[in-house]
Amino acid sequence: METVVSGIRSTGNLHLGNYFGALKNFLRMQHENHCYFFIADYHSLTTHPTPEDLHGSSKQVLVEYLAAGLDPEIVTIYMQSDIPEIPELYLLLNMNAYKGELERCTSFKEKIRNQTENINAGLLTYPVLMAADVLIHRATKVPVGKDQEQHLEMMRTFVARFNRMYKTEYFPEPLAYNFGEQLIKIPGLDGSGKMGKSEGNGIFLADDPAAIRKKVMRAVTDSGPLTPGQEMSEPVRNLFTIMQVVSTPETISHFREKFDHAEIRYGDLKQQLAEDIIAFTSPIREKILQISADNNYLKKVARQGAEKARESASKTIREVRQIIGFKSF
Ligand code: TYM
Repeated sequence: METVVSGIRSTGNLHLGNYFGALKNFLRMQHENHCYFFIADYHSLTTHPTPEDLHGSSKQVLVEYLAAGLDPEIVTIYMQSDIPEIPELYLLLNMNAYKGELERCTSFKEKIRNQTENINAGLLTYPVLMAADVLIHRATKVPVGKDQEQHLEMMRTFVARFNRMYKTEYFPEPLAYNFGEQLIKIPGLDGSGKMGKSEGNGIFLADDPAAIRKKVMRAVTDSGPLTPGQEMSEPVRNLFTIMQVVSTPETISHFREKFDHAEIRYGDLKQQLAEDIIAFTSPIREKILQISADNNYLKKVARQGAEKARESASKTIREVRQIIGFKSF
């Protein structure tokens, strides 16, 4: 049995990228491993949500985890902010994370380009908090999407440095994980980049069928292939990539052939894609509606999860303090 940790920031509803990048892999592992899946509400503070938004999004993410099939009897599901040992480990790890390496991190460089009025220290040390999330349970596997690969690499650097500094092998080096396959990137509907919460290019698990049809029909394409065998443009390739996760192989090869023979009508492709997404999200959406009405259940899940997570977290912190040299008088 290995220990597996993953999480999603509580900045809004979960989209197909979150599901296929992280949650789905996690769901496949929940029965065979020690699994921790948390709601990264501290991480969401980098964008300064209001108190109402913070609570609302965190609740929504919890609801959607459960609706997507995480079983709280098997997986430890918890709010990051319910585990005080995480910020303590974050503080300790910050002491040997270096400014230069944090500034070189791609996600930080992106943030300082797009979020110029709010370049806070939390953004800079974001990968250190992520490392604390994973190392607090000494996990070895972290199911995530492609965009988190570099953060995982940084975690391994912090682990190696800690172990070297204290002449120990206490922390294992965690690996980004997708069952031996490449990590996934689900593209957005706007013709470039990845699907994201704030990009306005996403399909959410909670979207109703009408919203899904509207978004997909509006997705960016091109004016169509003119000659058989023509290379696919990025926006069209993106629609095929989304098809790969929600449609049957027969559907995909049908439209692929139409494209290759320059006979494709993008309207037909989008209609089929929209229906396949709806077929996939509808059962989850129904559960989202059911579960979000049940506050008592949510409270119970969060309380149980926090208790279980703290058991493992407090053991780690006790041991790390000892390794570092904190001793009581
Ligand atoms: P976040 O909230 O941006 O995304 C959560 C998970 O969803 C994956 N993901 C995607 N995968 C494929 N295609 C996409 N378009 C796409 N968009 C998002 C992400 O790779 C991620 O796995 N920092 C993390 C949350 C976090 C965390 C951790 C994860 C905090 N601490 C410790 C793992 C371990 C984040 O912001 O993910």
